[in-house]
Amino acid sequence: MGTLDGRVAIVSGSGRGIGREIALRLAAEGASVVVNDLDAGPAGQTAADIGAAGGRAVAHVGSVTAEGFAERFVSAAVQSFGGLDIIVNNAGYTWDNVIQKMTDEQWDAIVGVHLTAPFRILRAALPYFKANPAGYHRKVVNISSTSGFYGNAGQANYGAAKAGVIGLTKTLAKEWGRYKVNVNAVAFGFILTRMTESTAADNATVEIEGRQIKVGLNPERAAMAATVIPFGRPGTAREAAGAVYLLCTPDADYINGQCIVVDGGRV
Ligand SMILES: NC(=O)c1ccc[n+]([C@@H]2O[C@H](COP(=O)([O-])OP(=O)(O)OC[C@H]3O[C@@H](n4cnc5c(N)ncnc54)[C@H](O)[C@@H]3O)[C@@H](O)[C@H]2O)c1
Repeated sequence: MGTLDGRVAIVSGSGRGIGREIALRLAAEGASVVVNDLDAGPAGQTAADIGAAGGRAVAHVGSVTAEGFAERFVSAAVQSFGGLDIIVNNAGYTWDNVIQKMTDEQWDAIVGVHLTAPFRILRAALPYFKANPAGYHRKVVNISSTSGFYGNAGQANYGAAKAGVIGLTKTLAKEWGRYKVNVNAVAFGFILTRMTESTAADNATVEIEGRQIKVGLNPERAAMAATVIPFGRPGTAREAAGAVYLLCTPDADYINGQCIVVDGGRV
């Protein structure tokens, strides 16, 4: 028996990193999961790994920023598994620059993926939540960042979007209490994924929606960042996923409208 037996979850950006670990954890606890990613390979791999471990998952490939994506994502849960109980808005990336060098394109892309996309996914889920009241609490967990909570130089776009996610969370917690839907956020600090991996090459990039996006921290910056964390190291994606999982359990039924900072005690 898992704590999430019979629940249905959708997790955006779960082909890699923290999202993948969230999908694996929710599935290991009994939830059926709609795995999403921009990239078909990683999305399929997460779904296959869940299946191989005895869980239930389907891959739903596509960008969370695409027109009509939100409605298709919600429908995928209802059509594949007959319901929707847990939404984790996790997909995203960073595209940094100081404000005087930040283009409108950079601003719009990052606000689009981190703030507008979660807004649309939650809006698309409401008719389903309203029409199908459950006897138990359903859960939304929006992924924020310490950049949104405290600010971070070079991340005006990302910090604003991740702060916006906290406002969205607190607002919907108030609107959706009547439907027994808990809406919370988790703001991560330094978690080791491809976004933050220490890379000797200062110019490592990945392709995201046709653009070359810089990823990784140079080794000195990564080492320095770790020294100010009380544990002396970044968090793992699995540890990050654990915090999200906790907010999805029935033990979190009276936690609502909160943003939990998961940064190892850094701030
Ligand atoms: N790693 C950290 O230190 C850290 C800190 C704070 C917050 N976060 C947040 O955690 C979340 C996950 O980041 P991560 O570190 O696991 O990164 P990651 O790059 O390892 O994984 C993110 C996944 O999201 C996917 N993705 C990106 N844009 C997408 C889109 N438009 N549609 C669908 N999928 C998309 C990527 O393909 C990738 O597989 C992000 O919201 C990020 O901002 C991460």
